[in-house]
Amino acid sequence: MMQENTTSNVALIVGVTGMVGVSLIECLKKPTVLGGPWTVYGVSRQPLPTWFLSSLLNKYINLDTLDQENTHKILSPLSSQITHLFWLALSVNQTEEENISHNSTMLSNVLKALTSAPDTKLSSVTLQTGTKQYLGPVFDPKFSSELAPPVPPFKEDYPRLPFPNFYHDLEDILASYSNSFSHSVHRASAIVGASTRSFFNVALTLFVYASICKRENYPFRYVGNKYTWEHFWDATDVRVLAEQQIWACVTEKAKFQAFNCTNGDVFTWKQLWKVICNVFDIEFVPFHEKDEFDCVAFMKDKGHVWDSIVEENGLYKTKMEEITCFYGMQMILKQEFQHVCSMNKSREFGFPGYADTLRSIANWVDKYRQMKILPMN
Ligand SMILES: NC(=O)c1ccc[n+]([C@@H]2O[C@H](COP(=O)([O-])OP(=O)(O)OC[C@H]3O[C@@H](n4cnc5c(N)ncnc54)[C@H](OP(=O)(O)O)[C@@H]3O)[C@@H](O)[C@H]2O)c1
Repeated sequence: MMQENTTSNVALIVGVTGMVGVSLIECLKKPTVLGGPWTVYGVSRQPLPTWFLSSLLNKYINLDTLDQENTHKILSPLSSQITHLFWLALSVNQTEEENISHNSTMLSNVLKALTSAPDTKLSSVTLQTGTKQYLGPVFDPKFSSELAPPVPPFKEDYPRLPFPNFYHDLEDILASYSNSFSHSVHRASAIVGASTRSFFNVALTLFVYASICKRENYPFRYVGNKYTWEHFWDATDVRVLAEQQIWACVTEKAKFQAFNCTNGDVFTWKQLWKVICNVFDIEFVPFHEKDEFDCVAFMKDKGHVWDSIVEENGLYKTKMEEITCFYGMQMILKQEFQHVCSMNKSREFGFPGYADTLRSIANWVDKYRQMKILPMN
């Protein structure tokens, strides 16, 4: 860990080991960062993994923010130091009602702890959410059949959908503190980054799938439907998302605003599939409508193949089921709407970040290889 320094901005990243947390620390520690230099504290429940660059953190805090008593005990003594909270934590449950209860409790516990003392320094909170703001609770079977396809490109001023959504509750909690500190909301598309601790990690899921297909000589079949194969999607590189959050928390005009956050370009899954095939040196298999493919069922018994890949290549120990999200990925990719956000508001407010989605894929695969999470070839 680094020595504590005496800069005025002190960031607390809750959810520091997820894809975005990892990138946010790297961005906050760049010499030219906005609002810097930053002192950075990070929270997660599980201890730091070996691939994590812990030397960049000034303090690591092992804490389950669902536990109110412990959260208060550990975080309230830091309330006179922490100026900026970056909320990246996520609790995923069977129903949206449970998502609301858990995620709201986590955020409320942390905010109460950080604002409890009279000398609290908290001035800004960034809240990361996503395009479920426009899609609704797609993973809750009670509501998923009632949801209408959203109209692309999704815009920040679309009215809230009349369905439960934990994003609404988190936004409302922050709004209730608007006399105490400012906040901004960052709505990401499918996030591309590097971590083994992210619940939904579509990129790593695809890379693990490609690695298994390569090793076993399985065809690398597309996991979605004809519609998504041919139509536009967007994605969010963690570096763009981290930069947007840092920009927003030091930019007057961005206070109390919600922003979409994507790379600013679009791609078809057919294009992305070709790129993945090139990077992994596997044969491109065109999509055939008649070839009904259920990747969830196909991958169900492939955990032992991943175990062998991990063992033979001396990789960081992971279980396929813990680092992939085949069910969520397949469900989203078998829908029929273009998943595209408007970045106009973010640009108009002055955020310049962007990334080339297709070109970035090879870099992310390289990063996973350097972290010893994916095999070298
Ligand atoms: N993943 C995507 O592609 C995606 C796309 C669009 C929007 N989003 C949205 O982005 C937001 C963040 O999700 P994410 O996917 O970026 O998160 P993530 O990568 O899954 O990371 C979650 C982080 O929170 C920590 N955490 C979870 N529960 C915690 C608790 N009770 N106390 C302390 N730390 C806790 C996790 O570590 P431990 O497990 O060790 O605690 C991890 O560091 C969510 O609103 C999500 O819906 C995600």
